[in-house]
Amino acid sequence: MELLKAKGIVKNFPGVLAVDNVDFEVNENEIVSIVGENGAGKSTLIKILTGVLQPDSGQIFVNNKETGFRSPVDAFEKGISVIHQELNLCDNLTAAENIFLTFEVVKGKKRTLSSRLNEDYMRKKSAELLDLVGAHFSPNVLVRELTTAQKQMVEICKALIKEPKIIFMDEPTSSLTIEETRKLLEVIHMLKARGISVVFVSHRLDEVTQISDRIIIMRDGKRVGELKREEFDMDTIIKLMVGREVEFFPRGIEVLPGETILEVRNLRWKNKVKDVSFQVRKGEVLGFAGLVGAGRTETMLLIFGINKKEGGEIFIKGNKVNIEKPLDATRLGIGLVPEDRKLQGLVLRMTVNDNVVLPSLPVISNHGWVLNDRKERAISEDFVRKLSIKTPSVYQIAENLSGGNQQKTVLAKWLATNAEILIFDEPTRGIDVATKAEIHRMIRELAAQGKAVLMISSELPEVLNLSDRIVVMWEGEITAILDNRSKKVTQEEIMYYASGRLKQNGGQA
Ligand SMILES: Nc1ncnc2c1ncn2[C@@H]1O[C@H](COP(=O)(O)OP(=O)(O)OP(=O)(O)O)[C@@H](O)[C@H]1O
Ligand SMILES: [Mg+2]
Repeated sequence: MELLKAKGIVKNFPGVLAVDNVDFEVNENEIVSIVGENGAGKSTLIKILTGVLQPDSGQIFVNNKETGFRSPVDAFEKGISVIHQELNLCDNLTAAENIFLTFEVVKGKKRTLSSRLNEDYMRKKSAELLDLVGAHFSPNVLVRELTTAQKQMVEICKALIKEPKIIFMDEPTSSLTIEETRKLLEVIHMLKARGISVVFVSHRLDEVTQISDRIIIMRDGKRVGELKREEFDMDTIIKLMVGREVEFFPRGIEVLPGETILEVRNLRWKNKVKDVSFQVRKGEVLGFAGLVGAGRTETMLLIFGINKKEGGEIFIKGNKVNIEKPLDATRLGIGLVPEDRKLQGLVLRMTVNDNVVLPSLPVISNHGWVLNDRKERAISEDFVRKLSIKTPSVYQIAENLSGGNQQKTVLAKWLATNAEILIFDEPTRGIDVATKAEIHRMIRELAAQGKAVLMISSELPEVLNLSDRIVVMWEGEITAILDNRSKKVTQEEIMYYASGRLKQNGGQA
């Protein structure tokens, strides 16, 4: 039976036809995925089907009855919940308070101005829900103390309080680790077993094919295909998504590494970074592998001056340097594409153009701060083209771009700076397969141009295929630095060092 059906949905934004005459249906008892490149219209469609946005035209049916959603609360009351691409929790409230934020439960039968909140009930119910999704923390804990995966569980509980028929999840796994993802997929199966259908969005196609009963493919705002479980095939999905062939890992753009550009010796910070030492050379991609909490991001934050190191030294081209703040790092030719692009990467209220050229201002401006508009625009347009950033113009406000296109904008901003040392922290998180391949090529090309690249990635194929050498970290220490040029490193080898069971040269950790 069709729980939800949409016909001929259209949504325009200025200069963008985001959803173009799309039909969509969610059946009872199914997990259906929507896949498509960045900007294909997935999130917009979900927002329409969950009452966040109103369509320009089209019809929506719930249980075969035509209806519409006046607001997210209206959709929620009709049995449709959603977990958006960006989590929407209040950091300073507890898990229980967040779970019941929209639907507080009061004491007594009727809600009046003087009603008191039934906190005991809400806490107890929250604890039950958290238990149901296998989250073993107290409902009284403040959300800001939780990890991303735990916050996601709070979101799921919040989605569950009205006993929904459908839960939409927009890229719920994009910032989860492999283990956390496995757990979330289990929760999704559990929800299905309890009679809740799930609509799932992810750029990780292995997850999508693993979990879905049906896959709907979108391209340029249109629904371009549908596959049932027995028809699943990676190449078919990608071809429908992209409309052309994709070359996954670039070959033949390796160069011989040159002189050492960056060296760090015995970096220390709290108990997160313990005596970290390594060198990186011109023309080299140095990959960083490890589990979450291994200290990879923390190490980069010290090199970039976001956190202040408590010990150790940094050398650039053999000269000891003093990096106290990010500006010192950028002046020394270091660029960082951070893991959390929303917090550290983009000014959402500014245009794509301003975001891209912002860190390069001293280079572009003629005298002091007099900017050269034409030069600026040429640079940002060049990057929009190179990274295929989907936007009507470089003067679009960054906030209006799709999630993946915002990420590409952050990449562009650092690529525009001419930094000699580039640090990428999870460079392809949330990025579609085709663009991912473009970014991989670009990383190799940057190295070939003589830059030194430090790349943190939790995707082992990415580390293995792009790195000249691989640093493996475990609990703040380097457990191995592996040469990936003369002999290809294996996943097993990395996992072994990443688990801390062994240190290089045979030393037990
Ligand atoms: N509020 C808005 N104003 C203007 N344009 C918008 C707005 N929201 C989305 N768009 C545009 O609509 C198109 C579809 O965006 P949408 O967020 O639905 O893509 P998506 O498929 O979810 O992509 P991603 O995989 O990157 O999350 C994009 O070109 C985007 O820039
Ligand atoms: Mg999206």
